[in-house]
Amino acid sequence: MSDILTSLAQDCRHILTDRPGPEGRGKIAQLLENLLADPANVDALVPLSTGERELLYEDPELGFCILAHNYDSPKTSPPHDHGPSWAIYAQARGETEMRDYDKIEDASASKPGKVQVKRSYRLTPGVAHVYNEGDLHSPTSNGPTSLVRIEGTDMSKVKRFRYELA
Ligand SMILES: [Fe+2]
Repeated sequence: MSDILTSLAQDCRHILTDRPGPEGRGKIAQLLENLLADPANVDALVPLSTGERELLYEDPELGFCILAHNYDSPKTSPPHDHGPSWAIYAQARGETEMRDYDKIEDASASKPGKVQVKRSYRLTPGVAHVYNEGDLHSPTSNGPTSLVRIEGTDMSKVKRFRYELA
């Protein structure tokens, strides 16, 4: 692990141990904004050789995960939440158009939930945003992007419901 990743992981551990709720996540988002303001940190955490999803660190006790994402081309995701978890999106390069949604109808295993757009905004380099449990959003990008994300748990192991526009 690079020094910058080691210290980020340690800082996250301390913050989440003291404040496991939204307040601690806000502090981590601030920390990411400070880090990513320096291009040297961007290159250390998300080198351009990074794939679309790379797990950089998984905390053995608290379960949070630090991920790096590098997309060479435009990318669109459907509305989704993070199941039982939270997530922090921190833009490293390029721009992400983010939409937040209100839930209109619950989702189930057999039926997608319904959502409507609440607001949209841009994540630009050095901007980080917290999505708490149940928050619904969808990122879209029109060009290459790089992000650092921190999730409360490894979401690749969590089954999620689908949502569509009402
Ligand atoms: Fe997400």
